[in-house]
Amino acid sequence: MTTETAQTLHPGTQTVTVDTGRERYDIVIGHGLLALPQCWAGLPRAAQAVVVSNATIAPLWAARLVQALQPHYCQVTVIELPDGEAHKDWPALNAIFDHLLTHGADRKTVLFALGGGVVGDITGFAAGCYMRGVPFVQVPTTLLAQVDSSVGGKTAINHALGKNMIGLFYQPQCVVCDLDTLQTLPQREFIAGLAEVIKYGPIADEGFLGWIEHHLDDLLAREPGALAHAIRRSCEIKAQVVGQDEKEGGLRAILNFGHTFGHAIESGLGYGQWLHGEAVGCGMRMATDLSVRLGLLPPEALQRMHQLLVRAGLPVRAPDLGADCYLQWMGRDKKAEAGEVRFVVLQAMGRAAVQGAPDEVVRQVLQAAVRVDALA
Ligand code: NAD
Ligand code: GLY
Repeated sequence: MTTETAQTLHPGTQTVTVDTGRERYDIVIGHGLLALPQCWAGLPRAAQAVVVSNATIAPLWAARLVQALQPHYCQVTVIELPDGEAHKDWPALNAIFDHLLTHGADRKTVLFALGGGVVGDITGFAAGCYMRGVPFVQVPTTLLAQVDSSVGGKTAINHALGKNMIGLFYQPQCVVCDLDTLQTLPQREFIAGLAEVIKYGPIADEGFLGWIEHHLDDLLAREPGALAHAIRRSCEIKAQVVGQDEKEGGLRAILNFGHTFGHAIESGLGYGQWLHGEAVGCGMRMATDLSVRLGLLPPEALQRMHQLLVRAGLPVRAPDLGADCYLQWMGRDKKAEAGEVRFVVLQAMGRAAVQGAPDEVVRQVLQAAVRVDALA
């Protein structure tokens, strides 16, 4: 869908294209999209659509989507999963398969993931497996999902021994970001999503980092213009990276800035204690500190990241799980090679790389992170 076509849906609607070489699809960003039947017209023909959502989001947003899908499908059903990261698991995945099989879903049935990253990741995984692959559409309803998880085809469920350990690369037919859905998002979730917006600055675009610093108050107030710009620029950067390295052979790993430390926080505390974006925010501070300690960045860069994260309302002091516990969880990171943990580090603000780090330097980062003073 071109931006001109998108404008016919609603003025101000924008598109960003993801092109992996194998597949090409659009991210459509705008207001009021969910309820527009025209928005869903270009999808593969099918008799059935299944909206996968959860018990929190479905009562708020599913009815509009179902109504807009009805002109295009003979049957539209909704499955409500239990809410929460703890349910990104086998029982919830099986509940989707049970629903599809009991409703006679065939190979052409289109799945719509209406929700945040949890719903998007599990629906994408279900779509990739059901009858060896059925089409699916991402309809992200959190800021985090609109700028990150709905784009790029990473799908997964968690395992008790690690986050996102069981999954597939499986690209959606399209991503529809209806900015209106963010109106009902709790502020804590919104701020967690900002962490993934902030991430794109240090890894790929210092100018965007400066823009975020300048417009942070507008973003926190969910000013529509600022929000639309932040989401579009984040999606553009993600689309560029995924277009060059769909399956994370190398470059794509930079999107995991802060995630090696962040996943250890999430897993070490138990899913759901800290939100994913909160853990990533704190992890980005730790990864910046690591970059400084490795001599890649000047200390001012850490101060800059620290101040931005604090202003955004993200946690900067890491939970005291003990360095050994952190190292154990980080050893299970998917970027680890032959047992060596690999970190996304900054070579400059706006440029990231992936490399190992001496254990004693990582321990220094961990020890400093549990003593961080937010006011420093
Ligand atoms: P989430 O999906 O748990 O959603 C956060 C909370 O907000 C939930 O309680 C949800 O029910 C609620 N919610 C969602 N939309 C709402 C709305 N519009 N109004 C009111 N409430 C709403 O969390 P998330 O932060 O969106 O996603 C985190 C997940 O995404 C993690 O599992 C993480 O691993 C995954 N992730 C995946 C990728 C990827 O590339 N696939 C990237 C980043 C994160
Ligand atoms: N969120 C990291 C990635 O999509 O690769």
